Amino acid sequence: MAEQIEEVNLIKKIEDLQKRLDEANDILNALRSGVVDAIVVTKKDGTKIYHIEDAAYVYQALVESMNEGAVTLTKEGVILYCNKAFADMMLIDYRNLVGVKLVSLISQEDIKKFESLWQNALVGSGKAELRLQYYGVTLPVSMSCNTHATNREPSYVFAIVSDISETKRAEEALKQSRDELENKVIERTAELQKVNARINKLNQTLEQRVVEETNRRMLQEHMLLQQSKMAAMGEMIAAIAHQWKQPLNALGLIVQNMQDAYQHGELDNAYFDSAVKETMSQVMFMSETVDDFSNFLKPSMEKERFDLIAITSEVLKFLEPQLSKNLISYSINCKTHNKTFRSIAEIIPCDATLITTNKSHLAHIVLNILNNAKEAIIARKLSGLLDAKAAGTIDIDVYKEGETLKLTISDNGGGIAEQLIDKIFDPYFTTKSKDHGTGIGLYISKVIMEDKLGGKIYVRNIQDGAEFTIELPC
Ligand SMILES: Nc1ncnc2c1ncn2[C@@H]1O[C@H](COP(=O)(O)OP(=O)(O)OP(=O)(O)O)[C@@H](O)[C@H]1O
Ligand SMILES: [Mg+2]
Repeated sequence: MAEQIEEVNLIKKIEDLQKRLDEANDILNALRSGVVDAIVVTKKDGTKIYHIEDAAYVYQALVESMNEGAVTLTKEGVILYCNKAFADMMLIDYRNLVGVKLVSLISQEDIKKFESLWQNALVGSGKAELRLQYYGVTLPVSMSCNTHATNREPSYVFAIVSDISETKRAEEALKQSRDELENKVIERTAELQKVNARINKLNQTLEQRVVEETNRRMLQEHMLLQQSKMAAMGEMIAAIAHQWKQPLNALGLIVQNMQDAYQHGELDNAYFDSAVKETMSQVMFMSETVDDFSNFLKPSMEKERFDLIAITSEVLKFLEPQLSKNLISYSINCKTHNKTFRSIAEIIPCDATLITTNKSHLAHIVLNILNNAKEAIIARKLSGLLDAKAAGTIDIDVYKEGETLKLTISDNGGGIAEQLIDKIFDPYFTTKSKDHGTGIGLYISKVIMEDKLGGKIYVRNIQDGAEFTIELPC
């Protein structure tokens, strides 16, 4: 019996405890759902009332003071509550926003974005950048939504809305300046392309002009060379005419004597033989002169190996009659052998003055220099600065310096005025009258020397005259 009473007491105790637990749970639910805002706790030392309003107030103050907009919505998207920051963003009183569907505040262009954000929010959370629009106010915002679920069913959605208009403006400004920069780059590139095209065109015309100018100069030089050669030929013909004078006279005499001998019956075999011999010797001499002449002027591009002293003496051979007529003596000095020749006849070929170059070009240059020396001496005599009977002198030195063969021609023709010395190699520079000089002799000599023979030609004044030097690689 006593056992039965004990069991009944225990069951009652359990039921009592269960009841107290249910009561505690009810209080907690009431607190959670906001039905109760205060609880009364009775303790040994008395009864105490706790207000949960105090805690809610702190949270409310926090939400109201936020810079971000905070919105509480139903799962259908109807605004239940919004803070001041959100209302300020929309420039309207927050009371006018309660009951409004959030979607109606979204810009038409961003509706799709919003719908996808909302779908995500209903199953957890979602975030997007979109534009709010309300009575003409458009505001770019970043919206982040979270669901508050009870019994796994979404009951509320909380949205945090941040104004990103500043960022957007900065982005827009950046984009604009980038676009402007890009446009400027495009404009500059187009300008540069135009300039390049112009430069290319100019280059083409320039190239063409350079080619034309080069051709023109080459033609001009060729003509000058021909002109100079013709002048040299004139000298040659004068020399030949002079050389032929004597043999022609001699031939005339032989023929005349033959006629006399015939008339006087002296034309025997012995006479005839001697006349033929004499005639042949004169004819041979004349023929040799012509050969020399034609060899000397024969245009050739070929290089040959020859003696510089020998070619100088060949040139002198043509000038000799004019030199002796004007009392001009000459000497050729081989410095290597310390030997001086005072007439062509004395000259012995020299192996120290051998050179490989174009013979006719070189002869042409030597002739131009020697002619100038001769003309300077004659002019000095005519001006009275040198006595007409005094000897004119032309001294030629030939010597080797390393791999260079040098030939200097100096005269006592008075030299060149210092203010003119830099001009004498210019084309058409002459101090002579029209009949005596064209001013191309030295110009063409320099062109031939530098362009065709790879050598140098230069001048300096010495006591009483000028000294021309030519240098050639040997
Ligand atoms: N040995 C020299 N002594 C003094 N002056 C000289 C001598 N050689 C050249 N000149 C000067 O240099 C000038 C130019 O010589 P260059 O041979 O080029 O022409 P040119 O003798 O006047 O005419 P050409 O074309 O008929 O030779 C001469 O007019 C003269 O004034
Ligand atoms: Mg000359």
